[in-house]
Amino acid sequence: MKIAIGSDHAGYELKENLKKILCNEYDILDVGTNSTESVDYPDFATKVCELIIKKDADFGILICGTGIGMSITANKFKGIYAALCYDTNTASLARTHNNANILCIGGRTTKIQEAVDIVNTFLTSSFEGGRHKRRFEKIKEIENINFKEVGNDL
Ligand code: RB5
Repeated sequence: MKIAIGSDHAGYELKENLKKILCNEYDILDVGTNSTESVDYPDFATKVCELIIKKDADFGILICGTGIGMSITANKFKGIYAALCYDTNTASLARTHNNANILCIGGRTTKIQEAVDIVNTFLTSSFEGGRHKRRFEKIKEIENINFKEVGNDL
């Protein structure tokens, strides 16, 4: 399984720690950043989203200080369903109910062992389908609305 991972400076340390553990089980595509020098999280969210949209990666992990900026950015892309998770319960539900394809974590809010557990839970859980598929399809319908046309009508 190919996992794309990216962070800003606030998530760099957690990204590096996660990579060391995850590389034993997964193919890791690291899009950066590569130091604690200040950068802009949307640049790295974009790189991970592009890899998933092009099907060059199966899932993504995005880490900024809180995970909030990464999740806001990633969810602007069609075909991306990013979930900010802060424990194993939300990580499990993000996959089983929401069919999320990107996991966002806060590098300044989540300790390393908790983050490892969150990532392992996310990557080993599967979408349950059923009533959740109906809801997921409704999200995809919303994605297909042409906002430019709606704007022109106003
Ligand atoms: C960077 O200081 C911080 O704002 C960023 O990592 C993130 O937490 C934004 O959501």
